[in-house]
Amino acid sequence: MRVPFIAGNWKMHKTIEEAVALAKELVAKVRDNVQKKVMIAPPFTALYAVSSVLKGSAVFLGAQNMAAAEKGAHTGEISVHMLKDVGVSYVIIGHSERRHVYGENDQLINKKVKLALSKDLNVILCVGETLEERERGIAEKVVEEQLVNGLQGVESKELTFVTIAYEPVWAIGTGKTATPEDADAMHVYIRKVITNLYDKAAAAVLTIQYGGSVKPNNIKELMAKDNIDGALVGGASLESDTFLPIIQFNNGDAE
Ligand code: PGA
Repeated sequence: MRVPFIAGNWKMHKTIEEAVALAKELVAKVRDNVQKKVMIAPPFTALYAVSSVLKGSAVFLGAQNMAAAEKGAHTGEISVHMLKDVGVSYVIIGHSERRHVYGENDQLINKKVKLALSKDLNVILCVGETLEERERGIAEKVVEEQLVNGLQGVESKELTFVTIAYEPVWAIGTGKTATPEDADAMHVYIRKVITNLYDKAAAAVLTIQYGGSVKPNNIKELMAKDNIDGALVGGASLESDTFLPIIQFNNGDAE
């Protein structure tokens, strides 16, 4: 069974104080009897402080990126050991902003994925096509390539520590969401690719999140789709008023 997985990506937002305040609110409301996995990825500067807030809670700590090298002369980078040292258990790799704004390619992303897994960090691997690629009818091909390249050399026993986030680039921060049907269709395709790369059993247990303008008013219909197992939430994860209703999407309205 796939446990719904709701993750918040805070991107380049929040001071330490703001991050701690929101983390405290979430911890108070998200109990481990909620049949869901919840993760937040604050900016690097707030990880240490947020880590102590989350300790012993039902909310996991994530990072938004990670260096492809383990250590050494890499000015400005943060290593897997540093992330583990502050209590991070998930790392988002290959977010479209990393791919398209910071020029990360599949080879670099693959290095990061393998390094994170080799050090027992859970990985959220992001994939997704641009609007231009969708309009050219190559969305599936693009996503397939990102999966094949991103997962190169990842063994099937490691795949259980990988979550895939399908985030069509044109839906991120734009207010445009893929229709639940379109998103579900791509999730089905992703499972097919994973079946070909690994096997049916691996594909069946793989958690696939949707990301791109997920809000309290669309989470329910997205999550109602068979192949959508969770959400990677940007803008709406920055306030408890919008993030909690997403986490509690099947509890009726937010508390
Ligand atoms: P958004 O961002 O929810 O603000 O569209 C999603 C993401 O980038 O992960």
